[in-house]
Amino acid sequence: MRIFVLNGPNLNLLGSREPAIYGLETLADIELLMRTRADKLRVDLEFFQSNHEGELVDAIQSHRDWDGLIINAGAYTHTSLAIPDAIASVGIAAIEVHLSNVYAREAVRHHSYLSPIVWGQVVGFGFRGYLAALDLLYGRLTNEASG
Ligand code: DQA
Repeated sequence: MRIFVLNGPNLNLLGSREPAIYGLETLADIELLMRTRADKLRVDLEFFQSNHEGELVDAIQSHRDWDGLIINAGAYTHTSLAIPDAIASVGIAAIEVHLSNVYAREAVRHHSYLSPIVWGQVVGFGFRGYLAALDLLYGRLTNEASG
């Protein structure tokens, strides 16, 4: 099974970016933790981060044959139609992750353009949310009938 992990703008600065909100773990730390878990599940992971909307769209399109997508689109969550359009266009199963509890923050962060086309959201659990998303996506992809 192949799962693509996609991170959007400013997530390359994790570790130093507003640590009280986003935690002290870097994106590389999160990748290592996810790879350790994925190895146990025998899942192939690929990671990509970009600060550019079009590059995120290109990355989704080029993973059209993959089994699943874990996406933290950063601020594009609240502004981009092109990213959910790309996910819907390729029909990849997706889970949306946010490190912070966006629903406890400014109103502009309460709306996600991704929410209608993802299987679900993992929100507010910091880096652990990525690990939960991996388990959730793997679980449903391997035993979809159980919901
Ligand atoms: C974020 C929440 C977004 O509102 C913000 O723009 C981010 C990070 C999160 O992971 O909590 O860049 O997606």
